[in-house]
Amino acid sequence: MKIVLCGTPEGVGRRAADLVQERMARGPMTLGLATGSSPRSTYEELERRHREEGLSFVGVTAFTLDEYVGLPRDHEQSYHSTIRRELTDRVGLPLHQLHTPRGDAADPHEEAARYDREIREAGGVDLQLLGIGANGHIGFNEPTSSLSSRTRVKVLTPATRRDNSRFFRDEEVPRTCITQGLGTIGEAKTAVLVAQGRSKAAAVRAMVEGPVSAMCPASALQFHRRALILLDDDAAAELSMLDYFREEQRLATR
Ligand code: F6R
Repeated sequence: MKIVLCGTPEGVGRRAADLVQERMARGPMTLGLATGSSPRSTYEELERRHREEGLSFVGVTAFTLDEYVGLPRDHEQSYHSTIRRELTDRVGLPLHQLHTPRGDAADPHEEAARYDREIREAGGVDLQLLGIGANGHIGFNEPTSSLSSRTRVKVLTPATRRDNSRFFRDEEVPRTCITQGLGTIGEAKTAVLVAQGRSKAAAVRAMVEGPVSAMCPASALQFHRRALILLDDDAAAELSMLDYFREEQRLATR
């Protein structure tokens, strides 16, 4: 794991956008996208570069991490609609190059297996953006998820449903989802996790400094060969090795 201290949420967004842009410059790529509030500063920065600097998404194929079971694609809170609204429509990524699991599939289990195959048949994900839940989940791999799991149907914890109720007005937050598994996510060539805010500090500490444990699914990234953890000051606040990470960053950037 490489810890990248970025100071502010905007700093996190700029650094993550740099990594995406650097990979895009090397040729056609498969980009893994997260939803929720964590990647917003990254998406805003990518949109700004598209608009002001002509950053082109031609050659990018995108796969999202997860989707709520039961929501049709055009539901305002489906992750398909969310990612279109927050990134892909804004940067001109053609709809046929955006892949999301179908939350309204007749058989969600079959759909999950199909989606896993689809990622593999596309050659796997080159760069996967991730957020982290306050309970340590990545994608919707809730605590106790198998560390080698594939894309499948998961039940959301009450804590995740409570956290995400801010996005749903009068409606109930769905109880189940289709999510890429920890094994699937682990196959991405590069994983870039972004975390901002004090509410993520304990989960960040467990992911980086805790044991690898299904109770903190993000800790599976300790096994990843190229996992970059981009943090603002608040998300980094509980790291006991903060001084070491600062030193590492200072010496490596010289
Ligand atoms: C959503 C996803 C989740 C979120 C996590 C953090 O696609 O993958 O793991 O990244 O729940 O959510 P926010 O960023 O809204 O705090």
